[in-house]
Amino acid sequence: MKAPSALFIYSLLSFLRTSTTLDTITPSQFIRDGETLVSADGSFELGFFSPGSSKSRYVGIWFGVSNDTVVWVANRETPLENLDGLFKVTNKGILVLLDSTNTTIWSSNTSRTAGNNINNPTARLLDSGNLVVKDGNTESPLWQSFDYPSDTLLPEMKIGWDLVSGLDRNLTSWKGTEDPAQSEISEGLDRGGLPQLVDKEGDNIKVRPGSWNGLYFTGMPWLRLNPLFKYEFVMNEKEIYYDYKIPNKSIFVRYVLNPSGIGQGFKWMDHTKSWEPVTTSQSDECANYAHCGAYASCNINKSPVCACLKGFIPKSPIDWNLADWSGGCVRGTPLGCNDGDGFLNYKGVKLPDTSSSWFDRNMSLKECEELCLKNCSCRAYSNLDIRNGGSGCLLWFADLVDLVVLQMDGQDLYIRVAASVLDHIGKNRHFGQKYQVIIIVCSAILLMVMLVLGLVFYVRRMKLRKEGLDIRCQNDYNNEDWKEDMELPIFDLITISNATNNFASSNKLGEGGFGSVYKTKQRVDCLIGVCATTLSMALLEDFFIFMKTLD
Ligand SMILES: *[C@@H]1O[C@H](CO)[C@@H](O)[C@H](O)[C@H]1NC(C)=O
Ligand SMILES: *[C@@H]1O[C@H](CO)[C@@H](O)[C@H](O)[C@H]1NC(C)=O
Ligand SMILES: *[C@@H]1O[C@H](CO)[C@@H](O)[C@H](O)[C@H]1NC(C)=O
Ligand SMILES: *[C@@H]1O[C@H](CO)[C@@H](O)[C@H](O)[C@H]1NC(C)=O
Ligand SMILES: *[C@@H]1O[C@H](CO)[C@@H](O)[C@H](O)[C@H]1NC(C)=O
Ligand SMILES: *[C@@H]1O[C@H](CO)[C@@H](O)[C@H](O)[C@H]1NC(C)=O
Ligand SMILES: *[C@@H]1O[C@H](CO)[C@@H](O)[C@H](O)[C@H]1NC(C)=O
Repeated sequence: MKAPSALFIYSLLSFLRTSTTLDTITPSQFIRDGETLVSADGSFELGFFSPGSSKSRYVGIWFGVSNDTVVWVANRETPLENLDGLFKVTNKGILVLLDSTNTTIWSSNTSRTAGNNINNPTARLLDSGNLVVKDGNTESPLWQSFDYPSDTLLPEMKIGWDLVSGLDRNLTSWKGTEDPAQSEISEGLDRGGLPQLVDKEGDNIKVRPGSWNGLYFTGMPWLRLNPLFKYEFVMNEKEIYYDYKIPNKSIFVRYVLNPSGIGQGFKWMDHTKSWEPVTTSQSDECANYAHCGAYASCNINKSPVCACLKGFIPKSPIDWNLADWSGGCVRGTPLGCNDGDGFLNYKGVKLPDTSSSWFDRNMSLKECEELCLKNCSCRAYSNLDIRNGGSGCLLWFADLVDLVVLQMDGQDLYIRVAASVLDHIGKNRHFGQKYQVIIIVCSAILLMVMLVLGLVFYVRRMKLRKEGLDIRCQNDYNNEDWKEDMELPIFDLITISNATNNFASSNKLGEGGFGSVYKTKQRVDCLIGVCATTLSMALLEDFFIFMKTLD
């Protein structure tokens, strides 16, 4: 008699379900395997499922449009091995999953729900995909599935900390495509120093998207360009979290951390009935946390990708040359500390690990620099927020690790180095420029001198040529021409002729740019003006004449 009645009830419930779909259950109702809760607009559905070819039964939430895309799983670690499961909400507002012997396989019991005076609790599946348990009296939920994420982040879901309750929400991937059990891989907010987004395997950071700079996680500048996923980061006394919103609620999107630890965003394509990837995470060498060790930068467009920061040298040059970067770099010149240090500006970078950092929202960059200089253990500083030209102060008090040169955007980082390192780099940088300036100035001066000289010679030559062989000795110093041509002594042809033995070649001393030079028998009175160009001659030979020949 027992079996038929159970079957009867089951059939009756199935009938009820097909006629009216529920989005809410109360303590007097329950869900059996095969039945589901459906959110008001049909976006999400809750029920029992088996992943892939597995026979194990789980309670989960999936998309209405894609019933094999599970976004949340209740009993991740404790599957049922038959179809006898029963899902309900208790009078105390606790969700429970019972097996055929009424044993609790899974429950939502937490310190938050336990011990309260609960009246008429309900569990409702919202259109956002959130399963919310509420007390009839209060608005705030007793429990919600969004606070206990599985591997999927839906719009409006928060990843991070509720500082009041101490809740740390993070994503943990499935162990495998057919095993929803929690794997070692998780994505969440690390709360040391300035909070940063990290992907961990166990306790080890694998990938570090990093701290929020007002626009994006420092290592993921392309995030802000995605028109679909609008990320936001909230940090106040009550909570620290990030989430994303979508501009159009009728578009289905999800971000999932898959079993291999890769996080990816998808959008549902209605016409193809499939999920299309819309965000990709960086997966090159430089994405591996601390790939180059301390005080080194990783640049995927360089070969090798790792380089010590300026003023730093490989800790183990042998390993470094063998492309084992893990040892990183050490300071080449010790800091002067109070005796004066300076800062090197790195642009377009992903900021280093902030787990040992300190920050202040209101300080200017100048104040930030001064504060860093005052404390010898301060290694670097930067703006906290890059919006509106930058604001706030972020200081690092530990070795700088996981600094990446980004291929787009990126931030400014000021790294502390000894003053001598700055001088050295300054000199090297300016040497080339100074050298060029010197060469240019010298060339210019030389050119000018040559031009002036050339001009002077040219003018003189032209003036002399104009006179031709019609050389007259202007003994008459009052002559107007002479006064005008003070620099150009002109001699009477006969005087010259006499003086040079009629231009005898034996009297010729040589030829210069000006013409031929002849030895003269006696000193010519009006020789004075010409001496400048033939000075050495004049000193050697008391008697000579400088004379222009016709070309
Ligand atoms: C999922 O949907 C497909 C087609 O829409 C249907 O054949 C299948 O039975 C559904 N599975 C579940 C568990 O509802
Ligand atoms: C399980 O509990 C329900 C009431 O919640 C009860 O009717 C049923 O008999 C119990 N089944 C077993 C096997 O204890
Ligand atoms: C919930 O937890 C409290 C203590 O944390 C315990 O007393 C209570 O029995 C639990 N309830 C269920 C249904 O597991
Ligand atoms: C996620 O939470 C688990 C358990 O609280 C913790 O061990 C793990 O470190 C967290 N992961 C991240 C990335 O914060
Ligand atoms: C939202 O998306 C749906 C489906 O893509 C489209 O029909 C609708 O016009 C969009 N609404 C807005 C406000 O963009
Ligand atoms: C920092 O600035 C905010 C507004 O920009 C202000 O509300 C806050 O009081 C300031 N804090 C300090 C310590 O000055
Ligand atoms: C320097 O900063 C560290 C870390 O914040 C702090 O512990 C130390 O007291 C500071 N030292 C001085 C002299 O301010």
